[in-house]
Amino acid sequence: MKYIVANWKANKTIKNVKEWLNEIRKTKIKVPKKVKVILCPSFLHLIIIKKELEAHPLSFNLELGAQNFSPYSAGTYTGEIAACMLSDLVEYVILGHSERRRYFKETDKEIKMKVIQALKHHIIPIVAFSKLNQVRLSVQGLKQEERKKVIFMYEPLKAISRQIGPIGVGRAAPLDQVVQMTKKIKKLFPKNKVLYGGSVKSHNIALYMTQPEIDGVVPGTASLNAREFIKLIKNAKTQA
Ligand code: PGA
Repeated sequence: MKYIVANWKANKTIKNVKEWLNEIRKTKIKVPKKVKVILCPSFLHLIIIKKELEAHPLSFNLELGAQNFSPYSAGTYTGEIAACMLSDLVEYVILGHSERRRYFKETDKEIKMKVIQALKHHIIPIVAFSKLNQVRLSVQGLKQEERKKVIFMYEPLKAISRQIGPIGVGRAAPLDQVVQMTKKIKKLFPKNKVLYGGSVKSHNIALYMTQPEIDGVVPGTASLNAREFIKLIKNAKTQA
């Protein structure tokens, strides 16, 4: 199974979301069974997208993920969204993205708490990392049965497209760097999937998707534009 996980970050109005879905629906793309396409919009858009997909299904199964949630259970945490609140809305959650670690000062300890919340509520955590130790800390102490559910996402900081702020230069990481890191992770955690994220576009997706060691990709910027996203899926499809 290969994964394409679209990370919309903090983008789009409700109108934009509907336009994006319409464009994707019109194109009737065929996605092979061995490719999973997961969309991670903001919390605000999740329920709208779920309802739209139920009312007007796409030509393929678009699964939903969150981009974050609270490290705590439901309760007296004003302004937070707890994992249990999302458990009937999403199947995945991106945790520990470098933008969250950097701009919101998320720590390895909090990320581990979120991984535990995700597993407790049957949401598959996609844990982002740029250093090997972040992977270890995110699953430390978990039983093998639980640990193997975690998907890791390698995001070398330099490779992320720059939108605002100092992260990233928008140049995708060289394939050998990604393969080397993936191999290291798989040596430590042979049962876990490892994805790559950082300036994945329609012109370079095949490079990563065709590598047997890499289980998929996480396009951010390229997923925002429906046409580019369709191209991206098509280019991945031919190779997957
Ligand atoms: P990008 O983002 O594709 O815009 O570089 C990837 C990510 O940060 O998830």
